Amino acid sequence: MTATKPLDFLWFIPSSGDGAYLGSDELSRPSDPAYFREIAQAVDRLGYSGVLIPTGVACEESFILATYLSAFTEKLKFLVAIRPGVASPAYYARLASSLDRVSNGRLLLNIVVGGSAQELGGDGIFLPHDERYDHAEEFFQVFNQLLAEGHANLDGRYIKAHNAQLGFPPVQAPRPPLYFGGSSDSAIDFAGAHVEKYLTWGETPAQVGEKIAQVRASAAKRGREVSFGIRLHFIVRETDDEAWEAADRLISKLSDETIAKAQEGFLKNSDSVGQARMQALHGGRRDKLEVAPNLWAGIGLVRSGAGTALVGSPKTVAARLKEYQDLGIETVIASGYPHLEEAYRVSELLFPEIGLGGPRNQIRSSFGEHQVFGGGGHGGNLRVVAGS
Ligand SMILES: Cc1cc2nc3c(=O)[nH]c(=O)nc-3n(C[C@H](O)[C@H](O)[C@H](O)COP(=O)(O)O)c2cc1C
Repeated sequence: MTATKPLDFLWFIPSSGDGAYLGSDELSRPSDPAYFREIAQAVDRLGYSGVLIPTGVACEESFILATYLSAFTEKLKFLVAIRPGVASPAYYARLASSLDRVSNGRLLLNIVVGGSAQELGGDGIFLPHDERYDHAEEFFQVFNQLLAEGHANLDGRYIKAHNAQLGFPPVQAPRPPLYFGGSSDSAIDFAGAHVEKYLTWGETPAQVGEKIAQVRASAAKRGREVSFGIRLHFIVRETDDEAWEAADRLISKLSDETIAKAQEGFLKNSDSVGQARMQALHGGRRDKLEVAPNLWAGIGLVRSGAGTALVGSPKTVAARLKEYQDLGIETVIASGYPHLEEAYRVSELLFPEIGLGGPRNQIRSSFGEHQVFGGGGHGGNLRVVAGS
């Protein structure tokens, strides 16, 4: 393998709830801010660079949750979903600036225009699919200018801002970086023009390669460059067999009826091209879920959005990640069920394989002697093995 820059590795806050089995209440964990704090503190310590916080009617509010978690973490960055139109650009600029200030420059923004007319309607947004991106363009014109300069004016088709002002600048100048995901032609156009990092769902390497080429071309037309990230679940175990068993177990309580209901709901309520591409990977069938080597689409049977996982031993998964890296992926936004335990698994098993460090601020536990775990007399303390 050729030397490659280590991946920027983020985790995910499951702000609508978590669990051990998809499509089942057994061992499920309802939304609980104190649990999200545990996850955030764990991943901050384990060496993840940040966490993605989603938005939607089923999620805790993303800016509020990020603000709360920022108070309990030290280095962790917060990739916070922002949905243009839910609030004005001037109000969102105040939220973003204050969050960047209270977190001391740890805010990243994920632009989410939304892929459900029904859900957007609840927020008072009634734009057809492609126009949502025209609206977002005007929204970010005002939002960006406010964060960079403190004032903005626009008499746009969708956005009107008259003498908009922002009192305090963000820590990051000119503003926190903009990330974005969307697979339609309008989304690709928008990405090329306006964002710093394009995020793709975990499609096959061939599909991801195509999308990267499209976004690069869209950016090049405007004399810009965009970097790339991927959103994937991970099921990593010590051996490939154990990892595949864990994948099977994750959907072992998922009934065909629940799958059919979920798929029908996505078809009815979503006009997102990205979502349609994720569904096309498995077609609602549970018998053809390995859609590319070690890329498993089982999660998408019942979860919208991120529906695929890399499954395997640390070596296997590292080799698959390298394929994405060779295509231009620099950032990974990872998750696994349940999110606290799997954050440990991924960092303990996978990070050493992909050149990422272990826990930050590790405290010395010996004077240099070789030690074994479990050799002590009081429940698993370390025993020094002389001369070994
Ligand atoms: C990494 C990633 C994260 C996303 N997060 C959210 C989210 O939190 N909430 C949401 O409603 N949509 C989310 N989306 C969906 C897209 O933002 C977008 O609104 C939708 O898919 C429409 O895009 P399209 O039709 O152009 O593909 C996300 C997409 C990606 C790739």
